[in-house]
Amino acid sequence: MYYQEFYRKSIDQPTQFWQEQAMQLEWFKVPKTILSKDKYDYDQWFEDGQLNLSYLCIDKHIKEGFGDQNAIIYDSPVTNVKQHITFNQLHHEVSKLAGGLQSLGLQKGDTCIIYMPMIPQALYAMLACARIGVIHSVVFGGFAPHELAIRIDDCKPKAIITASNGVEIQKIIPYKPFVDQAITKAKNKPEHVIVFDRALGVEIPKKSYDIDYTTLVEASPSIAAVAIESTHPSYILYTSGTTGTPKGIIRDTGGYATALKFAMKYIYGVNEGETFWAASDVGWVVGHSFIAYGPLLNRNTSILFEGKPIKTPDASTFWRVISEHNVKAMFTAPTAIRAIRKEDPNGHMLKRFDLSCLKYQFLAGERCDVATLKWAEEKLNVPVIDHWWQTESGWPMISNMVGVGLQEIKPGSASLPVSGYDIQILNEEGEEVQSSVEGYVTVKLPLPPGTLSNLWGNPERFKSGYLERFPGYYFSGDGGYKDEDGYVFITGRVDDVINVAGHRLSTAEMEEIVSSHKSVAECAVFGVHCELKGQKPLGLVVLKTETALDNDAIQNQIIQAVRQEIGAVASFREVLVVNRLPKTRSGKILRKLLRNIADEQQYNIPSTIDDVTIIDEIKIVYKTHSIGIHK
Ligand code: COA
Ligand code: AMP
Repeated sequence: MYYQEFYRKSIDQPTQFWQEQAMQLEWFKVPKTILSKDKYDYDQWFEDGQLNLSYLCIDKHIKEGFGDQNAIIYDSPVTNVKQHITFNQLHHEVSKLAGGLQSLGLQKGDTCIIYMPMIPQALYAMLACARIGVIHSVVFGGFAPHELAIRIDDCKPKAIITASNGVEIQKIIPYKPFVDQAITKAKNKPEHVIVFDRALGVEIPKKSYDIDYTTLVEASPSIAAVAIESTHPSYILYTSGTTGTPKGIIRDTGGYATALKFAMKYIYGVNEGETFWAASDVGWVVGHSFIAYGPLLNRNTSILFEGKPIKTPDASTFWRVISEHNVKAMFTAPTAIRAIRKEDPNGHMLKRFDLSCLKYQFLAGERCDVATLKWAEEKLNVPVIDHWWQTESGWPMISNMVGVGLQEIKPGSASLPVSGYDIQILNEEGEEVQSSVEGYVTVKLPLPPGTLSNLWGNPERFKSGYLERFPGYYFSGDGGYKDEDGYVFITGRVDDVINVAGHRLSTAEMEEIVSSHKSVAECAVFGVHCELKGQKPLGLVVLKTETALDNDAIQNQIIQAVRQEIGAVASFREVLVVNRLPKTRSGKILRKLLRNIADEQQYNIPSTIDDVTIIDEIKIVYKTHSIGIHK
């Protein structure tokens, strides 16, 4: 089938197109209304349909005779554990945990936070919630208790499901103690904390709200999946925005299931029964869509990998996993490939493995530089596909749809719009620009199924953040351009969001923490180029004149404060003291200018700048501290 014809149909006849795709699922009640408006006058999909994600990911496959197929392969080089989990076993674990949640009083519409490392129980927890209509919110383990507390107060979970510990490269992360600290900080206290004890020999403090996960599962009955309305939220996933407060993206149920089934087949090109691996974390959208729900919906074996591309134990880990578990398509962030390439530039380790099973390597989460793409292409000898999407979309928006037919790969471009996404590049006035002209990347409404349905508890921010900038369009927050063939090149965020090792972070949030230090008069935090992680945050601070501390102490305290408030994942390791910051005459700090100077990007000095001589001062500071191109 030709891409253009297939794509055009999704744009010209969206209801017909997506109705056909929805019929690939088994519905408890088949939807008759395909596209309608919700109470906020926003598009929703399959309003009167009913289904269950947990049923579709597990029970359906057992019913069709695939109970003995591996649903999940858990491969954990950090603990030396490998576990093959069949659909039958998955059913046992999930339906009993769902029974346990029900016995604790959790009901459809309640919320439940999952704060877990990359272990099977994290997936069981998600699927158990989905089984009974409990809305889960998975929080990435690299976030500190303070961030967890913000999310507890926003979604007010009845329970938190966690584990005793996580395991990072050569260190144990105290998950349960972090949950305790977060509960102490939060105003809203969950009733229960269900703790999976990993028995790693680390003492875990007990609290009155603790419930032992294993005991709960053993004591609980198996629960059948209940019928859930298509528009019922399956989960809330928090992501960074342009303010200090994260946004709770709401995902529906029926649209999401339709989109993921579609994506597995037409974007990733995998058939039922094959093995798919997304090397991400369940705390990110990639983990939700392509470790948990997508592959399981499509009856793929999903790899759950608890490790890193390097140092667990070395740069050959990815290739071992692909070859050992017969992975057909793999997904990771470019930063992971850069890390491997740094350790094994000639790909010697890769040659030790038979990678003939691998047909496609997908990359996303951040801009993919051409050198990384070329290296992966040369070493893996398969199509390496950069594709673009966001937490908000829940599944790819721009990609080479290999299941429809592989198109030409143009390095630097995420390729062509995916079915359902009418991608348009607009200028400041909201007019579509000519090819090769950079502008704002938007999607003409309606968005296809599976994309965000609102922001939890904040429909005003949903409207103002995404829909009002360009009426009739969804605004992605990214800049980019199309070439004459319609290929889209994403050039980066146009707001204060940065991307560190594929992790989306808010510099506004970091700035709030830095500026709250008692010695700081004013500050700017922005992302600068990093060879390994793509971007990293840099803080510039102007100190109060009367401060009693020395600069080193202040810098260390600020770095620790960001780590404590946001978490280690922020990778906030550089703060420089400067005499002043460049500003406009009206007092606005010129962060973009600061970033462009560091990255030696072409920049225009705004005519509104207060004092142009400051630019040379900043250049000297960067040079002295080996920032950006001076590294
Ligand atoms: N739980 C607790 N802490 C975590 C964590 C988790 N799940 N994930 C990361 N961290 C911590 C790390 O231990 C590290 O802490 P440190 O400052 O004490 O060393 C910090 O957060 C930064 O971690 P990370 O971003 O992983 O950097 P790194 O230097 O340890 O490793 C890479 C570099 C490139 C190997 C790593 O960033 C990587 O694997 N990147 C790929 C990321 C990815 O797959 N993203 C996909 C999103 S789609
Ligand atoms: P997240 O919501 O965490 O998935 O981050 C989404 C953001 O990551 C996007 O808005 C982009 O800025 C960036 N991003 C994701 N994939 C790509 C890609 N393939 N190319 C460029 N930027 C990307």
